[in-house]
Order: sequence, then C-alpha cells, then structure tokens
Amino acid sequence: MRKAVVTGGAGFIGSHIADELVARNYHVTILDDLSSGKLENINGLLNGGKAEFIRGSITDLPLLQKLFHDAEYVFHQAALTQIPSSIEDPLPTNEVNIGGTLKVLIAAEANKVKKVVYASSSAIYGDAPSIPHKEDMTPNPLSPYALTKLAGEQYAAIFHRIHGLSTASLRYFNIYGPRQNAESQYATVIPAFITRIGQDLPPVIFGDGEQTRDFAFVKDVAQANILAAEGEATGAYNVGSGHNVTINQLAQIIMRVMAKDVQPVYHEPRPGELKHSLADITRARGFGYEPEWSLEDGLSNTISYFSKTEQHATTKQETS
Ligand SMILES: NC(=O)c1ccc[n+]([C@@H]2O[C@H](COP(=O)([O-])OP(=O)(O)OC[C@H]3O[C@@H](n4cnc5c(N)ncnc54)[C@H](O)[C@@H]3O)[C@@H](O)[C@H]2O)c1
Repeated sequence: MRKAVVTGGAGFIGSHIADELVARNYHVTILDDLSSGKLENINGLLNGGKAEFIRGSITDLPLLQKLFHDAEYVFHQAALTQIPSSIEDPLPTNEVNIGGTLKVLIAAEANKVKKVVYASSSAIYGDAPSIPHKEDMTPNPLSPYALTKLAGEQYAAIFHRIHGLSTASLRYFNIYGPRQNAESQYATVIPAFITRIGQDLPPVIFGDGEQTRDFAFVKDVAQANILAAEGEATGAYNVGSGHNVTINQLAQIIMRVMAKDVQPVYHEPRPGELKHSLADITRARGFGYEPEWSLEDGLSNTISYFSKTEQHATTKQETS
C-alpha cells in the first residue's frame, strides 16, 4: 500500500486531504498536535482503520524522521494560522510555521520522500497592485503569518534546488467547506455568516462589503493537493476558484441558500484588510487542477454540514 503523511491532518483542510487519500487507497498517517484540529474531523477514518493518528508536533524532528519512513508523499498542512495572534506574539508562529516546515523538509529529504506538497497562502501577495494574482508577482507579506508562509515556500524551493527534493507550494486563497472552525473569535467569513444567519441574526460586514474574495471549496483543494503530488508539479501555484465575489454578494447567496432574509450590519473596516483578491489559476490547471464546485453548490454542502452539526450538538445537550 502506498503511504502518505498529512501534517495538520486533524484540521479543516488536512482532514479533507486525508479523506481523499484514503478514497484512493493510500495508507495515511495523520500528525497533529490538536492545537486547533479536532479528532472528530478524522474519527470516521480512524474507526475504519484506514488511517493512523499520531499526536505530536512538526517541531519534533526525531518524530518526523520516524513517521516519514517509507512515505511516498507528505502533505504539509500543519501551521498556526491566525494572523492576529501572529501580530500580537510572533514567536510561536515563527517557530511552528518556519522552524516546523524546515524540519518537515529535512525529514522528507532524509527519507527520500517523492514529494512534499506545502500549504502556502495568498496572504503572501499582500496588497498586490492588480488582480488577478499571478505567481510571478513580487510577494509583499503584510503580517508575520504571511511572512512565515512565504519563508516556508522559499525553504521548499531551496530544498528542491540544493537537495533535489521535489516540492510544490499551493497558495490557497479563501478556502471554505465542512469542518471549518465556526467557533473561534477569528472564524472566517463563511462559517461566521452561516452561524449568524442560521440564528436569524444579521451577518456582520466589515467596511462597505464591496471588497472581493476568491472562495475555493475544500474538496477541490484536496484534489489539487493529490494532483500536485502525483503529477509533475514543482514550484508555487495559486489554488483558488478563479472567480471572486463581493462580501455583500456572498451574504446574499448564503441567505438565498438558507431561505432567510436578514439585513447585514456594517462595522468599521478592519485594519490591514485587502480590498480585492482573485487567483489566476492558469498555472495550476497545468497539473490538472480544475475546480468542480460552484460557489452555490459548495455553500449548500457547507450549510447542510453546519446544520447537521448544530442539530447533533442540540440533541447531545438535550440528552445529557
Ligand atoms: N483555510 C484557508 O482559507 C487557508 C488559506 C491559506 C492558507 N491556509 C493554510 O492551510 C493549512 C491548513 O489550514 P486550515 O484552514 O485547515 O487550518 P486548521 O487550523 O484547521 O489546520 C491546521 C492544523 O495544524 C495543526 N497544527 C498546528 N500546529 C501544529 C504543530 N506544531 N504540529 C502538528 N500539528 C499542528 C492544528 O491542530 C490543525 O489541525 C495551514 O498551513 C494554513 O496556513 C489555509
């Protein structure tokens, strides 16, 4: 059986990559310290005996050396992902995202892993002068988090150049879907809107709502990872949907799908927020990436997931 390791595999995106790998008959090892990931995201896989879970950190090099033994691919998703925390206290983000990524690359090279696919971010572009964002634009990271993502990409490129380790960095745009964290104070816009609208509360929009974002559905992103690993991809690739919508439009679509009608409320824009974001996905199409989920279909799938987990939580409360 082919073996793959997913770091951060109990998290939102990593757990979908693990699902897809198991569906393709890989034996999957999931490494996660559960700092933001949850076992419930992968319980189905673990109960079915199709994946093993190791609780540990990507900063533990001897552990990585052991886990990567015989692994064909490493999907490196583990990271501290909160921009505000990276601003308040940059050291942990630096240690995990840069130090941990370097250790992942060292262990992958030592174990002759065929390819490391690294979760980068559109945050590396910062406020680029024009859209769509193309991979050859000069990066302009605006937060410690964004800088760590760029450093990870550059380490990956250096390991490719110097040691011949094959690496591909996928610059994720705004990814959404089932299992995305809706509880955190920094919950991203889609889970935040679904939660508020579901309770007949107005969605909160920062600024005038005319800022645009490129939302990609997580199952398309999982496909992109596997295509990038199994194919010839090396270097950096945008992974978005190739379309953008305004936040006002997004709120309207979610209300339509949920059959609700609540007027959004508008708050002061958040400092440092970008005005527009849009991925040019031409390069990723070169390795076979083609988003299959429209925004409406992806949102319906996500909304039905959140309503099921909500019902589940209510039933649990009622029975306990
Ligand atoms: N969600 C997005 O829209 C988006 C956009 C751009 C980039 N990314 C990147 O994608 C990756 C996955 O993000 P996500 O949205 O699934 O977030 P997530 O928080 O759900 O997943 C990150 C996972 O990494 C784990 N982790 C954190 N530190 C670790 C450590 N030291 N050792 C082992 N595991 C550790 C967490 O417990 C969590 O399960 C991250 O690298 C993130 O930077 C995400």
